[in-house]
Amino acid sequence: MFKIFGRNKQKEDVKLFYKTDMHCHIMPGVDHGSQSVEDSIEMLKAEMDMGISRVILTSHTTAETFENTPESLAEGFETLKAAVEQEGLSIELHYSSEYRIDEFWDQLYSEGRIVPMPGKFLLLENSFVQELISIDELMFDLSSKGYKPILAHPERYSYYFQRRTRYQKLHSLGVKFQVNLLSLAGYFGGGARENAYWLLEHNLVDMLGSDMHSLEHAEVIKHYLNSKEWAKLQPRLEGRIVNDMIK
Ligand SMILES: [Fe+2]
Repeated sequence: MFKIFGRNKQKEDVKLFYKTDMHCHIMPGVDHGSQSVEDSIEMLKAEMDMGISRVILTSHTTAETFENTPESLAEGFETLKAAVEQEGLSIELHYSSEYRIDEFWDQLYSEGRIVPMPGKFLLLENSFVQELISIDELMFDLSSKGYKPILAHPERYSYYFQRRTRYQKLHSLGVKFQVNLLSLAGYFGGGARENAYWLLEHNLVDMLGSDMHSLEHAEVIKHYLNSKEWAKLQPRLEGRIVNDMIK
């Protein structure tokens, strides 16, 4: 019989240098991320292709649009966990939320009904319209209660583009900064990408997240990880990124 040499000879996908994705919307049916268990499973497989073996599910909690509670998040988690077990995927799952700082957050926080990550890390999202006046006080208050606040994708808030000293102030309060791989890949435009690089140059990036909402996002990230740009950037990030500290 003939053998066809060289067939299916594909380059191995580039793996991330850390094991924990701490920002994604893979929990099914609780926000505008994954809309089905099947998609969630495919997205988790994509995470594994990228070298991720621990995922912290951080579905949105936002006033009016996605008013998630400890109960709704627990339900989504149990659904996904059962499917992952059935599929036999070897991936560790945890859950928390990406909390938008708004009136619904105020309510949950005052009632003690927030779900932090392991180690009391907490992913917080600023408004995209304007900076919250009391953000410094909130970060201070969270820290005093033993929480470890993480600001989700600081590079995406356009009101900081001309006021970058605010980044230094927030970071000096102990807030960890998480940049999106999608921003580095240019998915959110040149401004967010440029800002992400500025943060990197100023040693203000502590964590990276996929912020994966869909299989399309997974493809964009995979493509980016196999680019020359990522190969150049990765050595500058290793040793600085502390995703795996979330325990
Ligand atoms: Fe997100």
